[in-house]
Amino acid sequence: MKRQYLVAGNWKMNGSLKANAELLAGIAAKREEVSAVELLVCPPAIYLDSVGKALPEAVRLGAQNLCEQTKAGAFTGELLGGMLTELGCRYVLVGHSERRSLYGESDERVAEKYKAAQAQELIPVLCIGETLAEREAGTTEAVLSRQLKAVLDLCGIESFAKAVIAYEPVWAIGTGKTATPAQAQEAHAFIRGLLAGQSATIAGSTRLLYGGSVKPDNANELFACEDIDGGLIGGASLKASDFIGIALAAQALSAV
Ligand code: 13P
Repeated sequence: MKRQYLVAGNWKMNGSLKANAELLAGIAAKREEVSAVELLVCPPAIYLDSVGKALPEAVRLGAQNLCEQTKAGAFTGELLGGMLTELGCRYVLVGHSERRSLYGESDERVAEKYKAAQAQELIPVLCIGETLAEREAGTTEAVLSRQLKAVLDLCGIESFAKAVIAYEPVWAIGTGKTATPAQAQEAHAFIRGLLAGQSATIAGSTRLLYGGSVKPDNANELFACEDIDGGLIGGASLKASDFIGIALAAQALSAV
């Protein structure tokens, strides 16, 4: 049996009180049609409270980032994992490529955030992926190994029993250029193989999401791949019909 599909919306720095309410209403109206799929929305932190209160039935809440600290203190502008949990977050994205490239998050910092998330009852969605230059240089696997190793070294393989991994090739994010199902499957199988090298059980149960220009019309072929357990959706998660359209692809595959 395949793992339960997870379709997650990363709203990034988008939304407004009005737009969020409309988006959530659109998701709520169709939630039942995708009942086999776990749905997650990750709004900007300032909206976690209001989105959490208006969350459709059986839709999970997640944050886009957290501080690597585990105790409150003098860290201006940062968000403690416990604060996110208090607002109802179950998940938190960690190490998104935009955090790594625009805000200088190193592999080690990302690993610390992953650890802090788990220490505060959040499920980290660890984002990894190579840039176009790295792919063209033939270093995709080395990059994925390095990014994953930082977390494995700090937290161990057992930690992946309570984590999700999102493979997001940087060249496919927001570009409209999706990895082919074969490219995505190859990377996913490689990542699962790295986990399996330490524990076959954990490797078999950890969900691996694909992210990068997932749309309703390409979700089916991606999600049908053996090692792809759902998607981390950027642009298309901002429109209820697209987000649900993607979830419908997962729903159809769940019934197989
Ligand atoms: P797009 O779906 O807009 O390419 O974004 C993917 C992403 O970065 C999700 O985290």
